[in-house]
Amino acid sequence: MNMVKTAPNGAMDLTKRPLEHELDPIEIASRDEITAIQTRRLKWSVRHAYENVPHFRNKCDAAGIHPRDIKELSDLRHLPFTTKDDLRETYPYGMFAVPMSEVVRIHASSGTTGRPTVVGYTQQDIAMWSRVMARSIRAAGGRRNMKVHVSYGYGLFTGGLGAHYGAEALGCTVIPMSGGQTEKQVQLIRDFEPDVIMVTPSYMLVLADEMERQGMDPRDSSLKIGIFGAEPWTNDMRTELEGRLGLDAIDIYGLSEVIGPGVGIECIETKDGLTLWEDHFYPEIINPQTGEPVADGEIGELVFTSLTKEAMPVIRYRTRDLTRLLPGSARSMRRMEKITGRSDDMLIIRGVNVFPTQIEELILKDERLSPHYQLIVGRQGHLDTLKVRVEMRAGVDGSACDMAAKELQHHIKSLIGVSSVVDVEPHGAIERSQGKARRVVDLRKDEG
Ligand code: DLL
Repeated sequence: MNMVKTAPNGAMDLTKRPLEHELDPIEIASRDEITAIQTRRLKWSVRHAYENVPHFRNKCDAAGIHPRDIKELSDLRHLPFTTKDDLRETYPYGMFAVPMSEVVRIHASSGTTGRPTVVGYTQQDIAMWSRVMARSIRAAGGRRNMKVHVSYGYGLFTGGLGAHYGAEALGCTVIPMSGGQTEKQVQLIRDFEPDVIMVTPSYMLVLADEMERQGMDPRDSSLKIGIFGAEPWTNDMRTELEGRLGLDAIDIYGLSEVIGPGVGIECIETKDGLTLWEDHFYPEIINPQTGEPVADGEIGELVFTSLTKEAMPVIRYRTRDLTRLLPGSARSMRRMEKITGRSDDMLIIRGVNVFPTQIEELILKDERLSPHYQLIVGRQGHLDTLKVRVEMRAGVDGSACDMAAKELQHHIKSLIGVSSVVDVEPHGAIERSQGKARRVVDLRKDEG
C-alpha cells in the first residue's frame, strides 16, 4: 500500500501557495458551507437524473427509493449504484438527461473489451469542467501566462481537450501537442520553452529518454511542473521523475464517466494526496464486496456522484479505483490517497493479491533498473506464474543484470509474497507507451 509522503520537512511550502484572492472562494470555504452546497446540489442532481434518465428511474423504482427521500448527504447510501454495465446497456446515449440538441460534445473511452463508454457534455458542463481543470492546474503551481505543453491525447480520450480548456481558462498559453511523435515533442519543448507539461507519467519517461538521446540533459529543460495522471504511479516514481527532470511532479486524477481529468489533484505546497473538487463530484468509499459505505480513512472502492453535471449525471458511479479519503490540508475539501490501482488490475497470483504499483515501488528502489517494466501473468498446469520484465538503466554494466534480477526476485517474494521470474533486459527492450502504459499482460485471460 502506498503511504502518502508529506513535504520533506513535514510542512507546507508556503512560497508555492496561490494567493487567496486567486482561488475560487469555495476552495477555502468552511466545511459547513461545503456541506450546504453539496446537499442542495445533490437533491437537484438526483431529481434531474430520475426525471430524465428512464434507466436510472427504473432502478430507483425497483429499489423503492424516490428523489424526495434524499434529504441529506447520508441518504445517498439508499440509492442504487451506477456501473460501467449500465453505460454499456444504454449505449450510446441512454444515460443522457438532456435532448441531443443541448449536447455540444461527446467523448468515449475505449475499454479493453466490447463497446466504448460514451459520455456527453452540455455547454455548461464544458464550462464547469474547464473551471475545475483551471483550479487543478493552479493547485499544481500553474499560473496565468505560463506556457502549458499538453501531451495527453486529443480526440475521444478526455485527457487532451480537458487539459486544453482548463489551461486556457486559467489564462495560460497552450501548446496542443497531443500524444506521439516523440522526437518532435522534445524539439518543441526545447524551442517553445513551456513551463508546464501535462502527460502520463509513463510517457514522460519516454520523453526524458528522448531528451537524452538528443544530447540534452532533461534537467536543463524549461519545464518546472509536470501534471501526471490517467494511470497509477507511485511516490517512488515521483522521486524518479522529479530527480531526472528537475520539476515538481503532481498527480492528477479523473475519469470520463465523471467528467474527465480534474476530478482531483495534488496541491504543490503539500503533495500529500489529491484534493477532490467535492463541490462538483461527491466522493464515497465503499467496501467493494458488500457495497456498504466505509468511514473516511478506510480503504475501499471510490464512488462518485456528480452534483452539477447536466448532460450525463452519474449517481454513485463505481470507479473500481481503490483508495481512502483524508481530511483537507491545503484546501478545505477532502483529499484521497494516491490510487493503489483498480480492482480490475489487481492480480491474484496463487491466491496473493498483487498490484502492479507494489512491484513498481520495488523496481524503483534499485538504481540499476529503469522504471520501464511489464508484468506477464500466465499459468503452468494449475499454477499461476508471474514474469517481471524490467530493463537495465542506460549506461549500467550488463554484468550487473543477474545480480539485479536475483535481488528483485527476492524482494518480490519476501515483501509481496509471490514467487516470480525476473527478466532484466537491455535498455529499450520493453514496449513504450505514448499514453497509458500497458503494465500487465495476462495470458490467462487470453486462454479464456
Ligand atoms: O484517464 C482521465 C484523465 C486524463 C485523468 C488525464 C488524468 C489525466 P479514463 O480514460 O476514463 O479517463 O480512465 C479513468 O484511469 O478510473 C483510473 O483507473 C485511472 N486514472 C486516472 N487518473 C489516475 C491517477 C482518464 N492519477 C481511469 N492515478 C480511472 C491512478 C488514474 N489512476
